[in-house]
Amino acid sequence: MAANYLWVRSALLSLQAFTEKMPRVRPFYAVKCNPDPVMLRVLANLGCGFDCASAKEMATVLDMGVEAESIVFAHPCKRPLDLEFAIETNVTRMTFDCVDELEKVAAECPHAELVLRIRADDPSAVVQFGHKYGADPQTEAPMLLAAAKQLEMNVVGVSFHVGSGSQSCDAYPLAVEAARRVFDQAADLGYEMQLLDLGGGFWGRFDATGHVPLEDVSEAINSALDRFFPVNSSGRKVEVIAEPGRYFAEACTTMYALVTTVKDRPDGSRSYYITDGVYGSFNNLVYDHGSVTAKVLRGPGMPPVQPVETETRLPSTVFGPTCDGVDLIFKDVPMPLLRRGDWLQFPNFGAYTIAGACAFNGIPVDNPDIMYVWSEEPTGSWEHSVAMLRKGADKDNPALQAPEHHLCFVADLHDLESIC
Ligand SMILES: Cc1ncc(COP(=O)(O)O)c(C=O)c1O
Repeated sequence: MAANYLWVRSALLSLQAFTEKMPRVRPFYAVKCNPDPVMLRVLANLGCGFDCASAKEMATVLDMGVEAESIVFAHPCKRPLDLEFAIETNVTRMTFDCVDELEKVAAECPHAELVLRIRADDPSAVVQFGHKYGADPQTEAPMLLAAAKQLEMNVVGVSFHVGSGSQSCDAYPLAVEAARRVFDQAADLGYEMQLLDLGGGFWGRFDATGHVPLEDVSEAINSALDRFFPVNSSGRKVEVIAEPGRYFAEACTTMYALVTTVKDRPDGSRSYYITDGVYGSFNNLVYDHGSVTAKVLRGPGMPPVQPVETETRLPSTVFGPTCDGVDLIFKDVPMPLLRRGDWLQFPNFGAYTIAGACAFNGIPVDNPDIMYVWSEEPTGSWEHSVAMLRKGADKDNPALQAPEHHLCFVADLHDLESIC
């Protein structure tokens, strides 16, 4: 009963914008952000690489025909079974940030192409990683490089993650500069590193004209690359990749949830119960510091409601569908009066949402119906999208060489049609 509308074309537009703005940087989509099979397929067909954190993620993209060289196993503290899978499938590029991991990889996978993850925090990023991953570039990196040398391991590059939802244009240039210093330390030990991995952190919303506004951050990154990793006179340059997740996944998905129960409270406020919640896509409220913007969609065939200008608004609390009290989406927000059968629409809901959902209470909020749409418009009107899909338009688009059933509407159309 919860449903997602996934605007597949956004993958193409986001990828084009990324490579136009940062021609030296090849994106490796962070699968963890939203492992939707159609998104992955489209990105793979368009030449994107993949950042995988586990055997499952590696298997998913390898099964799509992605080459092992187009995968970076970017988990600095790997589980044994994931490492085993990487070895079996020849995924050799992998990150590390401590001696124990180095020893583990040296013992199991001596031919690994190691990437040293350094700490490079943007304090204003929405989600921080520095307390968990990343070696200090000044104090720890030299020691780790020396340890790697002693173990005769091949360290091929440096990675970092400035934090998810980075807000500052300074974060990447500072991190690139720190990476340069680590490259130089490595050169002193005889390493000739060739890979710089900028990690994730990029925002990805379309502006009013349908463009992804990447200007400021891309200019900052490009000039840092030119300064610290210039192309040398013989044309030789360091390979630069990034691991954007949110950038690709956030704006592509609009989520819809149905109002199933309305409760009038003695204090004059109201509670609503909807078909998705904190155990579903709204897990982002807990894990991703998510915020919620909702639009009300009236079910057709129901009595008319008050015009927006004069409508009554009551303090309203919206709960998810499980029996757990923490399954609360927002509290005491003034909202127009909803009826059972109305819908709430949540835009920009594709990043770190469905990826973290589970089926607690036997309610399959981790498996919403998904409607895949390949429309021209940045947001695609609902009517237009449904019409396009009915006509089967764009099924022949070469970027979308996904299995037929992925391109069809797999939701319960009856429910979603009632939105328009
Ligand atoms: C190693 C790594 N790379 C990339 C990403 C994607 O980050 P973002 O969604 O901010 O681009 C993450 C997110 O957790 C990550 O852990």
